[in-house]
Amino acid sequence: MKAMTYRRYGGPDVVTLANVPKPTLKPNEVLIRILATTVTSADWRARSLSMPGGFSLFGRLVFGLLRPRQPILGTELAGIIDAIGPAVSRFRVGDEVIAFTGGRFGCHAEYRAIAEDGMTALKPENLSFEEAASLSFGAMNALPFLRDQARIRRGDHVLVVGASGAVGTAAIQIAKHFGAVVTGVTSTGNVALVQSIGADRAIDYTKVDFATTGDSWDIILDTAGTVPFKRCEMSLKPGGRLVAVQGSLGQWLGLGKPSRKSGKRVITGVAAPTPEDLRTIADLAAKGELKPVIDRVYPLEDAAKAHAYVDTGRKRGSVVLRVVG
Ligand SMILES: NC(=O)c1ccc[n+]([C@@H]2O[C@H](COP(=O)([O-])OP(=O)(O)OC[C@H]3O[C@@H](n4cnc5c(N)ncnc54)[C@H](OP(=O)(O)O)[C@@H]3O)[C@@H](O)[C@H]2O)c1
Repeated sequence: MKAMTYRRYGGPDVVTLANVPKPTLKPNEVLIRILATTVTSADWRARSLSMPGGFSLFGRLVFGLLRPRQPILGTELAGIIDAIGPAVSRFRVGDEVIAFTGGRFGCHAEYRAIAEDGMTALKPENLSFEEAASLSFGAMNALPFLRDQARIRRGDHVLVVGASGAVGTAAIQIAKHFGAVVTGVTSTGNVALVQSIGADRAIDYTKVDFATTGDSWDIILDTAGTVPFKRCEMSLKPGGRLVAVQGSLGQWLGLGKPSRKSGKRVITGVAAPTPEDLRTIADLAAKGELKPVIDRVYPLEDAAKAHAYVDTGRKRGSVVLRVVG
């Protein structure tokens, strides 16, 4: 099958078209013919080893010490079930599905095998394959951070920094689903987008620093890595939580964290979504509460161009790869 592969770390041009064996099916797996996938910030990090402050060595431990362990990138997909293993009961050949492979990658190809009880769900019928492929990366990270770690509640005031990216656009819509009042921090060109997906208010960070507005929030979710606790301490309400999605090593180690007396918390680490979360996300999309945001679409073979665009760090929502067999 066709796949976009990388055999060494580096710039977008390390990603090249290759012919690789089609996955073989285990009894509990489904084989998905991929119609669309995306290039995300995770693909950029795994390809380039660009890691948040302090994590450069950690990248090699995760992705492969000398060379990439998994040569095919891609964390999410939408497609059609092409074959099923003999023990599969939840899916049938021909089902239209989405899947999230996260750190296991492997979606920048014509086919991907996934366990039927893994992160696979029926594709919402109201979405195209390209829209459906863009659904999970941002939401599978935003949902566990907001619901399980920050314990978002109806009426909470939530600030999303980096509101136009994949995680940010999902976080705004998921926070609205939970009944929060949401402010998005974004650049001038993305203010209208952030409002269009439900933010009650947008702050243009090129003009206003949210930390100087005198306003405060229950949850500040930072996807841009620009909000150490010190910067937002006064912008958190009593009991407030800073969710450092792009956390630094210092934040992971608990350096500079608030005193227990303050009641404020810093949450960081890696999101831990479940297969049930993917079904929740698909349901939200089916109801129109979660709308995928697509920035650009490239053919699979142009994955290197898509990577170059993602490398700018300025994409809006998702960058899709269309897979034509
Ligand atoms: N901890 C985890 O488990 C986890 C999971 C997923 C992602 N992440 C990390 O989260 C980060 C965001 O991921 P993503 O996929 O959402 O990235 P993305 O889609 O590339 O979006 C990044 C966004 O950041 C915005 N931005 C850049 N500088 C900013 C600033 N100074 N203030 C506010 N916004 C700014 C950009 O918007 P403008 O053009 O408007 O500036 C852009 O839309 C990445 O570092 C990724 O590695 C962590």
